[in-house]
Amino acid sequence: MDALVVEPGVAHSARVERVSPPREDGVRVRVLEIGICGTDREVSEGVFGAAPDGEATLVLGHELLGRVDDDGHGFFRGDLVTATVRRSCGRCVACAEGSPDACLTGNYSERGITRLHGFAREAVVEDPVQLIPVPRELGRLGVLAEPASVCARAIRHARAIGGRQPWRLERALVIGGGAVGMLATIFLRLAGIDVTTASLEPANAVADRVGARYVCTAATPLAELGRFDLVLEAAGNAQAMAATLGLLRRGGVACLLGIDPRRQQVAVDGQTLGVDTILENRVLFGSVNAHRQDYLAAVTDLTRAWTAWPGALDLLVALRVPLDRFADAFAHRGGKATLVLDEL
Ligand code: BGC
Ligand code: ZN
Repeated sequence: MDALVVEPGVAHSARVERVSPPREDGVRVRVLEIGICGTDREVSEGVFGAAPDGEATLVLGHELLGRVDDDGHGFFRGDLVTATVRRSCGRCVACAEGSPDACLTGNYSERGITRLHGFAREAVVEDPVQLIPVPRELGRLGVLAEPASVCARAIRHARAIGGRQPWRLERALVIGGGAVGMLATIFLRLAGIDVTTASLEPANAVADRVGARYVCTAATPLAELGRFDLVLEAAGNAQAMAATLGLLRRGGVACLLGIDPRRQQVAVDGQTLGVDTILENRVLFGSVNAHRQDYLAAVTDLTRAWTAWPGALDLLVALRVPLDRFADAFAHRGGKATLVLDEL
């Protein structure tokens, strides 16, 4: 069967290739659609990722929407599913407790990213424990489950960190208008929070639909927006990340989600760091990946959003192409691109 493979460490090595069909034990899943994100672009540019031990190529794809092929393991033929990305290192307490998202050794594997083949192929066999049911009504929007799980984790952690002391999450700022920024905007709006979403684009239809205030950062500097209980950086700009500390209210929490791999120095205002962060109990933290509970929360919230704001989630997927047009999906900017492998 066809798969999208890459030679990790080798730029421009992504190609569609025949691979042998999966023979492992588990649930056989037909792949319907694969979301593409910045991580896939980094792997295809050769700057990130690793092949399984002893192999030269890695099957890409970690944002899965699939359909179960046969009854069994608590699933029924036709069920829509997604799957977790990160798998246990087998050696730390976090992984032993079922939280590889908090792995303490860094020796975890990740589907389609590090040492485990991904989902960008016609069919996969998956461990039933790693599968997450996707509600039927979400249909193709189920492809957003994985990036949504990353947002659900970030917000869950922000609430835990903010909530270590008396705190109310009333005003949030989301920096970045990509899929993660918009899914975070949507989830915060579902929770009734006053959300401002800021990015470079002149306008943002999703923000308007879900009742978030949209700000174009080319016209309005972030420092003019007032201060926030939560700032979520999903633009992947290290300078903007450093500046989030200065955008927080007392007890405020800033969460970094977007990767910025550039080698550079960024500036932090001395008094913001050396005085305000301390005197106002502010926190800056990073979050990656997601726990199973975050996937479950994500599909629940996606379904709620689908009902609350018809058509809003559809705006997040901007380009759907077949597997052999993966280059178009990688080149696409503005909205999520996906690879479509089969009919719903
Ligand atoms: C994925 C995460 C993964 C991270 C780092 C992201 O694109 O959504 O699941 O942990 O990349 O590899
Ligand atoms: Zn991703």
